[in-house]
Amino acid sequence: ALTTEVGRRPPLSELEGVPLPAATVDNWGQIQGFEAKPDDLVICTYPKSGTTWIQEIVDMIEQNGDVEKCQRATIQHRHPFLEWARPPQPSGVEQAREMPSPRVLRTHLPTQLLPRSFWETRCKFLYVARNAKDCTVSYYHFQRMNQTLPDPGPWEEYLETFLSGKVGWGSWFEHVKGWWEVRHRYQILFLFYEDLKRDPKREIQKVVQFLGKRVDGPVLDRIVQETSFEKMKANPMTNRSLVPKSILDQSISPFMRKGTVGDWKNHFTVAQNERFEEIYRRKMEGTSICFCTEL
Ligand code: A3P
Repeated sequence: ALTTEVGRRPPLSELEGVPLPAATVDNWGQIQGFEAKPDDLVICTYPKSGTTWIQEIVDMIEQNGDVEKCQRATIQHRHPFLEWARPPQPSGVEQAREMPSPRVLRTHLPTQLLPRSFWETRCKFLYVARNAKDCTVSYYHFQRMNQTLPDPGPWEEYLETFLSGKVGWGSWFEHVKGWWEVRHRYQILFLFYEDLKRDPKREIQKVVQFLGKRVDGPVLDRIVQETSFEKMKANPMTNRSLVPKSILDQSISPFMRKGTVGDWKNHFTVAQNERFEEIYRRKMEGTSICFCTEL
């Protein structure tokens, strides 16, 4: 997907109506046939919902708060990204196959595209959801700086693109509703970015319990501290600063951008907010999921 002319952004492909990177679609056979294991833990998110944050939290728990062990590799390399493909580098599936169990994997796939074996093995899923408005803003800035994704265009245009689900990994609405609906049928811990922000200690404790681990009070406190936005922004193993500028251009917008709840207020006009809420109500009708958009 990166072999297009210099400076040109490759377009997304589509699978069952869901826009995805072309290389992911090209590699779909391998992804679909992925063999999950019962002791896998799968971190599932819609893009820009706090994936990196929950990855670091999970790793800190697994390493019992040992900061140095968490420095062993960049966050992208600690947990294979299931649908990632950039030949000739090993695909996410290949990286996962190489990883000793118990594995921690991550994916942005919506429920309808998740390889069947995950549902069959009944492994654990950790889903993090973020309110749609902040997610739109975060995704907009990410697409500005990520040279492997389409240029988002002006904000007012991007808002429409996002609402119509014509962004990588498809509609936020379908993604969140899909995972919310199955949360009681499988071993799914469903978390919210806004809760993590409001009370990280409580939410991290939920993760510890879900993973069946125990951590001492001081270790828990260290995990809370080390996974704060400020710490992770300064940490080269989590802030993506080791990714070449030709892929992530952090001079356009940093990967660790703001890390707040309610930044949408600095982007949405009153009219855009009204339109967004109107569409939101329609698309979310009948689901019980409830987001907070400010703290
Ligand atoms: P913003 O663009 O709003 O700043 P993902 O990892 O799924 O791509 O999500 C990235 C978003 O999570 C970015 O949001 C990023 O700043 C935010 N983020 C990453 N680490 C965080 C942390 N420790 N605390 C709060 N937000 C964090």
